[in-house]
Amino acid sequence: MNKPVRNIFLILIALAALIQLYPVNRKNPPVTQDIGAPPTIAAILHTSCYDCHSNETRWPFYSYIAPASWLVAADVKRGRKFMNFSRWDTYSKGMQDTLRSRCYALAAANLMPLPNYLLIHRDARLDSVKLEVLRVWGGTKE
Ligand code: HEC
Repeated sequence: MNKPVRNIFLILIALAALIQLYPVNRKNPPVTQDIGAPPTIAAILHTSCYDCHSNETRWPFYSYIAPASWLVAADVKRGRKFMNFSRWDTYSKGMQDTLRSRCYALAAANLMPLPNYLLIHRDARLDSVKLEVLRVWGGTKE
């Protein structure tokens, strides 16, 4: 390796090390409640949605390595803000109904789980049987 190339290489390694210092919030807030869905629904939600929509996130190894960690943490933060199954009781009855039907609508449109998540979590994919279960649960006639 000639000198300029080696220097660029060393700088890149230093930068990769440096960005690891930027703090990432991977804290799971205490789980004080849960949506308490029927077992069939709960199983689907746990496998496909809980990593971003609950306080029970399973943080994968790459969530400890920047810059992947930043992307994972951002999805979890945003996902929890929109809908958190660990805070279900804080939503009004009307909001709960809306969220349930949105769950089906977004899943049926392949918008949830997020496509980038599905690339890595193949078991989170929703087949037609699971979608049908979500449809009935969501109470939609679509
Ligand atoms: C990898 C993280 C991730 C996973 C897994 C995930 N979501 Fe989301 N979800 C998000 C984010 C982020 C948002 C905020 C809206 C956006 O950025 O598109 C969101 C928003 C939502 C919303 C509210 C949005 C609205 O417009 O009403 C619903 C409902 C939802 N997700 C349902 C689900 C369901 C159902 C699953 C599982 C089948 C799921 N999500 C899995 C990240 C995720």
